[in-house]
Amino acid sequence: MSAIHAEGLRKSFGEKLVLDGIDLRIPEASVFALLGPNGAGKTTTVQILSTLIRADGGRAQVGGYDLTRQADDVRRSIGVTGQFAAVDGLLTAEENLLLMADLHHLPRHEGRRRAAELLDRFDLTAEAKKTAATFSGGMRRKLDLAMTLVGEPRIIFLDEPTTGLDPRSRRTLWQLIRGLVEDRGITILLTTQYLEEADQLADRIAVLNGGRLVAEGTAEELKRRIPGSHLRLRFADERQLDAAAAVFDVASRDPENLALHIPGDGTPATVRAVLDLLDAARVQAESLTVHTPDLDDVFLTLTETPRKSVAA
Ligand SMILES: Nc1ncnc2c1ncn2[C@@H]1O[C@H](COP(=O)(O)OP(=O)(O)OP(=O)(O)O)[C@@H](O)[C@H]1O
Ligand SMILES: [Mg+2]
Repeated sequence: MSAIHAEGLRKSFGEKLVLDGIDLRIPEASVFALLGPNGAGKTTTVQILSTLIRADGGRAQVGGYDLTRQADDVRRSIGVTGQFAAVDGLLTAEENLLLMADLHHLPRHEGRRRAAELLDRFDLTAEAKKTAATFSGGMRRKLDLAMTLVGEPRIIFLDEPTTGLDPRSRRTLWQLIRGLVEDRGITILLTTQYLEEADQLADRIAVLNGGRLVAEGTAEELKRRIPGSHLRLRFADERQLDAAAAVFDVASRDPENLALHIPGDGTPATVRAVLDLLDAARVQAESLTVHTPDLDDVFLTLTETPRKSVAA
């Protein structure tokens, strides 16, 4: 069964069409990453699927419940960590968690048990009695996620969970998120601007641009859509570059950088063949690098704003 299944979601704000028919199918116990440039509609999608705002059209099931007819059941199944942390700075970490327990109408002892367990799981026990205002951005984000978990949701929406965190804090949060999926079978829909985050964390990735999902698949599948494994050779001067370009008829020149791009993978056999051909032509390369498309290339290619065509 899908944890989230949406068909044809549409949303406009006034004249502005933001979502123009979005389909999503997210399997249980998986991480799904929604990518897209600023203003693409990621937060809007999260807000619709978490019942915070209504779509203008389309339909969706979240946790097996219909988004509009069973909105209360949907709300009971989900947790949402917004783009801006919901932590109350005047309360301690523990008080923030107990407040969430109250909001979920948990009996006092059960609230205390879950708060203690989450403080431990998120390595915040030593900070339990400190006010959140004194926390660093990373600690605040961890507490924010812990607060989302108090209600034991089956599905979690994370809107840019690691924005502003340093690489180590980001990794810590990734581990916690992966753990939720692997140990507890929780389903996660996250939005992110960090392509490495999607690459590391997500089972599947979708790219939102111009109101539509322009691509969907695993990180590997998306990378395969972009042409472009190549070897890049740099030369000391233009004469060497010209000589090398004459050897490889499929190569493309980057004269500004005195470089030559030769399509092909980075296997030792390919690299050796290229170097042998250069040797035979008595051309010396300054450096050789292997370039394989990464998720940055995918993102930049898929979300390129089309250049205005010049009228002939
Ligand atoms: N309440 C609102 N009223 C009017 N316009 C809105 C509202 N909420 C969002 N928008 C517009 O909808 C578009 C999508 O916004 P959204 O916040 O979903 O983008 P996003 O992909 O989350 O961007 P970011 O990466 O900057 O967080 C934007 O053009 C935004 O200005
Ligand atoms: Mg957003």
